[in-house]
Amino acid sequence: MSLTPLTETQASIQQLARGFAADEIAPHAGRWDRESCFPVSVAHRMGALGFLGMLIPEQYDGLGLDTLSYLLALEEIAAADASAAVLMSVHNSLPTQMLLNFGSEAQRQRYLKPMARGESIGAFALSEPEAGSDASSLRCQATRDGDDWILTGTKSWVTSGTFADVILVMARTDLPDARRGSKGISAFVVTPDLPGFHVGKKEDKMGLRASPTVQLDFDGMRVPGANLLGDEGQGFVYAMRSLDNGRLGIAAQAIGIARSALQHSLSYAAERKQFGVPIKEFQAIQFKLADMGARIASARALLHATAAAKDRGESVTMYGSMCKLLASETAMFAATEAVQIFGGYGYVKEYPVEKLFRDAKITEIYEGTSEIQRIVIARELYSA
Ligand code: CAA
Repeated sequence: MSLTPLTETQASIQQLARGFAADEIAPHAGRWDRESCFPVSVAHRMGALGFLGMLIPEQYDGLGLDTLSYLLALEEIAAADASAAVLMSVHNSLPTQMLLNFGSEAQRQRYLKPMARGESIGAFALSEPEAGSDASSLRCQATRDGDDWILTGTKSWVTSGTFADVILVMARTDLPDARRGSKGISAFVVTPDLPGFHVGKKEDKMGLRASPTVQLDFDGMRVPGANLLGDEGQGFVYAMRSLDNGRLGIAAQAIGIARSALQHSLSYAAERKQFGVPIKEFQAIQFKLADMGARIASARALLHATAAAKDRGESVTMYGSMCKLLASETAMFAATEAVQIFGGYGYVKEYPVEKLFRDAKITEIYEGTSEIQRIVIARELYSA
């Protein structure tokens, strides 16, 4: 239930995503989680329906939709499966937006168009084993060699890294002994066919188990000069600007998880009887349901207002961080309360809320931890 009045297009996108999620995602999500596997064919099906090119203009084969339409669709997919949602969020918010906003016309024609059609899946490679929250301390090195660049280093926590076709990689282009922090970082468009590319360790994660999260190793990978994105030295700023979008996507994902936790809790509390009555008759349970509902509604209202601000061309650095912070903490709260309402049944894999609990946690960590969101918010409050 959304407070935001929707246009006809927004409502029909929401319905399309809800139907797709119910028919083609939800029935399989438990198995994908158990098997730690997400079929690439499902990603391509998402692409065929337009879910992987929602924010890309029609001239680059996207749907050219507004941000709210995208976030509404993402919430629906996330309510069915958070792993499917993170693929959709990363693809739509990070690599495609980087290409659209900072790429050359040739890069858009070659890489963005197939990504918008969902034929190519995108990934974003910023973090490294030693550079997580402190992203600008990254060490992956790109060195000029004639017209090309030689890329050496390791990236971690790369979503969709096993099957990504186009990866946006941030690397240092200043001299190794002259680290200029964020100023010496550039962005590159790379593809797995380039020599020296290796998919490394696949993480064995607590949640989002269907979504492949991997290390990528670049062993002297030769990258054509034409694959530098935008201006040399601007890669960190491009990544940060893209994460402003990404954080809205993760907020929508978190709201989808929280909503699912609430829906399952409402049904279970109406059916489960203890002391001779359905447990929804107890105030202890009602208060939990009420708090879940109130927190979900407020996180969603802030997200939808922020989407509108973004489409008006306003900076959403602060509100994007607020959305991500509130929504991810709501997801963790709602999933925790859902497990409590289910009691022992909440703790076993036979019931759905155990997966939601595991999936919710990562929303407080990736695309900037809750602590980083608070740093961004506090900085923005001072600069306002
Ligand atoms: N928009 C535009 N520019 C920005 C910006 C933004 N949102 N944030 C920073 N910048 C610019 C700054 O203006 C500055 O530029 P100037 O030097 O020209 O002024 C430059 O970038 C450096 O900024 P800071 O000095 O603020 O940099 P910092 O080193 O202090 O770091 C930080 C700031 C907010 C802590 C940042 O490092 C950060 O967000 N860390 C978290 C990283 C993160 O979210 N990682 C997630 C990786 S993706 C992922 O999770 C995997 C996945 O696939 C899901």
